[in-house]
Amino acid sequence: MKRQIQASGVERMMRENDFIVSKTDAKGIITYGNPIFIEFSGYTEEELLGTQHNIVRHPDMPRSAFKLAWDTIQSGQEFFGYVKNMAKDGSHYWVFTHITPDFDQRRNIVGYTSVRRCPKRDAVAKIEPVYRQMLQAEHSAGARDAIGAGTKVLVDLLNQTGMSYEELVFSL
Ligand SMILES: Cc1cc2nc3c(=O)[nH]c(=O)nc-3n(C[C@H](O)[C@H](O)[C@H](O)COP(=O)(O)O)c2cc1C
Repeated sequence: MKRQIQASGVERMMRENDFIVSKTDAKGIITYGNPIFIEFSGYTEEELLGTQHNIVRHPDMPRSAFKLAWDTIQSGQEFFGYVKNMAKDGSHYWVFTHITPDFDQRRNIVGYTSVRRCPKRDAVAKIEPVYRQMLQAEHSAGARDAIGAGTKVLVDLLNQTGMSYEELVFSL
């Protein structure tokens, strides 16, 4: 079960050469975490394995951002994005994530692998207000329409800039 953790506002920075790696089954249940994932998450390996990956979800992250991630990887494509994660002690750490599906020989998706690198600071500064707007739209829309409202903020931004989601992410 997910514990109620209060965000502390304390930020931890990934180091330039860090890679946070985790693997999940097809439902997002953690099956592997490298030592740097264990270090940054603040959980033990026993606490992480067998747990939903939302264990490190930060309340500042909009649900619509994860919907986009899941829609992308479940369709067999790779996903790139900036994510604010929360550690067991309530501190947070920003990552630039790349999630790829793992296929069996018949091309069924059997799980996912995520590799996260140290994000560029100015990219975090640019994406943070977008996530804030998406989250705000989700909250004012109410639970049932939240995903649609959050997604609309992102789609409107993409339409304004004329970029695809991936182009936006790599332009940050
Ligand atoms: C391989 C993989 C890695 C993921 N990494 C993260 C992550 O670092 N942080 C996070 O909040 N969610 C991550 N997720 C998404 C979570 O499974 C979940 O969708 C998200 O935290 C939203 O949780 P919620 O649906 O309970 O709100 C990952 C999913 C997969 C498949």
